[in-house]
Amino acid sequence: MNKQEFLEKYLIERRGTDCFKWDELESRYGDPNLIPMWIADMEFKTPDQIIEAMVERAKHGVFGYSSVSEEYYKAFSDWMSERYHFPIKKEWVRFSTGCITVIAWMIHAFTNPGDACLILTPVYYPFHNVVTSNGRELVSVDLDYNEGYFTMNYEAIEKAIVENQVKMFIQCSPHNPVGRVWSEEELEEILAICKKYNVLVVSDEIHQDIVLGENPFIPSAVVSDGLYGDIVITVSSASKTFNLAGLLHSHIVITNENLMKIYDKFARGMNRTEMNIMGLTATMKGYTHGGEWLSNLMGVIRDNYNYLKKELHEKLPDVTVCALEGTYLVLLDMRKCIEAERLVEFIQGRCHLAVDYGECFGENFKGFIRLNLATDPKYVKTAVENIIAEASKL
Ligand SMILES: Cc1ncc(COP(=O)(O)O)c(C=O)c1O
Repeated sequence: MNKQEFLEKYLIERRGTDCFKWDELESRYGDPNLIPMWIADMEFKTPDQIIEAMVERAKHGVFGYSSVSEEYYKAFSDWMSERYHFPIKKEWVRFSTGCITVIAWMIHAFTNPGDACLILTPVYYPFHNVVTSNGRELVSVDLDYNEGYFTMNYEAIEKAIVENQVKMFIQCSPHNPVGRVWSEEELEEILAICKKYNVLVVSDEIHQDIVLGENPFIPSAVVSDGLYGDIVITVSSASKTFNLAGLLHSHIVITNENLMKIYDKFARGMNRTEMNIMGLTATMKGYTHGGEWLSNLMGVIRDNYNYLKKELHEKLPDVTVCALEGTYLVLLDMRKCIEAERLVEFIQGRCHLAVDYGECFGENFKGFIRLNLATDPKYVKTAVENIIAEASKL
């Protein structure tokens, strides 16, 4: 299937389907006619095989309590081992209704009220809330930023860990919104620091399958042949990969027996950690049949990104387009183009776009915007054209 065929087959109108991204524009942005380039889901239908499997399941007509089939574990393990050299054993896997829910559970299972949890900013805004709303101390360390490229400042991270006696590091890998796919050297460095100070790493790897640049995605649990497996809890889902977020199905992978015992004890206290039958059905089909669809999707995202980068570089070099090694969410540094105080009016009032603003991801990132590129190329084109045209009037 070529790109055009993929677009024709899978692009779908979402307005009027109780879709957060489109149908909440009025309530969130005060204007229902903006082009929604915010929240992280897509305008693409999920692969046919997923839809067919769900229809078949629905036709059976019973939605009772469900177990996880051997086939499911095999599909998950095969996907992870073929792509990321991480053959997942069944006994390492638990389930939840969402990755942020998992992070909240881990905070409760492995830290005490008042304990410090580290995040590297700018980062997905619920990482901030999940720490503070659960009564833990939030320690934020900014990533270093240089001409659209973010890197970790190990010295600052180590200092923050020591000074605040950090107990947990909530890692984003690949990192939303900075678009980095951390290299093995980078992961090795940060994990070694965490190990040195006995910091548990909860690694949110929800964006693992959307990798566009040269760095391959490496699960933290397999870095250096699994050297850090005893301090890493992996959180993942097929929801970003196949546009399944509404099914509320995610994985918790814990390779260390002691950590798993602690988690299981905590989970018993919650009584119910069973799975959504549709989430299981869809995820298994995605992992067994979704590879080709995913390659097509990545082609669209890559083309959208290359177009945006080239156009803005040529016609509006005051805007820095950050690197996009992974995820479908790109940061634009607008600070040379327009004062941060006028940015919202410019983006919404003049360019007619709904985006996420940098300060949601970290207080020092006002003046950045995040755009979602997993969409129809025509929206990306309009967005770019509007930004260029409106900037010329400033
Ligand atoms: C890094 C990251 N984690 C988690 C989520 C949300 O996951 P869930 O809906 O499973 O809580 C997102 C959504 O954009 C995300 O970017």
